[in-house]
Amino acid sequence: MRIYQSEDYQAMSRRAANIISAQVIYKPDCVLGLATGGTPVGTYKQLVEWYKKGDLSFAETRSVNLDEYLGLSPHHEQSYRYFMQDNLFDHIDIKPENTHVLNGLAKNPEAECAAYNKLIQDLGGIDLQLLGMGHNGHIAFNEPGDDFGLETHLVDLTESTIEANKRFFESRDEVPRHALSMGIKNIMNARRILIIVSGEEKAEIVKKAFTGPVTKDVPASVLQLHPDVTLVGDKAALHKLVEAGVQVCG
Ligand code: PGA
Repeated sequence: MRIYQSEDYQAMSRRAANIISAQVIYKPDCVLGLATGGTPVGTYKQLVEWYKKGDLSFAETRSVNLDEYLGLSPHHEQSYRYFMQDNLFDHIDIKPENTHVLNGLAKNPEAECAAYNKLIQDLGGIDLQLLGMGHNGHIAFNEPGDDFGLETHLVDLTESTIEANKRFFESRDEVPRHALSMGIKNIMNARRILIIVSGEEKAEIVKKAFTGPVTKDVPASVLQLHPDVTLVGDKAALHKLVEAGVQVCG
């Protein structure tokens, strides 16, 4: 695993965007696995900026997103489809038909999940999967205790995730209780993984995930078993790893 420590959120975002743009330049028709949440906003902003400068094109790139709330339409401002349009897709030249987000309004969630697994396979698998990490170590909506062998599935959100995500909604009651999410197996099948973390509140879980045992209690710990993981974080999120003696690149 490579670990890059950046000074702050902005520098972390630039570094992550650099890695994504390198992937797109080397393989223009690559399949990017994309993530939502607060952490990747700066990364997407940087990619948009480089696209607008003419340094980067997504004309051939395909994308698959990690997850979506069940019950939210793509037009709902808190849906992950809306997030992706708003933060990235509407501002770059990626073809709409090449962007894939699970359908939160699917009448048959199980069928939607099965079709998504097939889609990823038909696209040839994910070249680079971008991930954030939850305070409880979740990746996508794979919560502590979830089986590492799961593919895309229907999830009951945990109290801790509902609590963490309520900041995006008018009230806690409005946070959906279910989601559709790629499973750990889909994520581990990606050829490369880029995980980004920012802020002091992630420092403890980052240390646990990457220096502790690989355990279902900390879903992100499974990444220790992946052959090509890059962790990019700011100083605040990485300082406990560094204090534990883990080598990082500046
Ligand atoms: P955040 O969420 O980027 O908003 O901290 C990360 C996650 O829950 O995966």
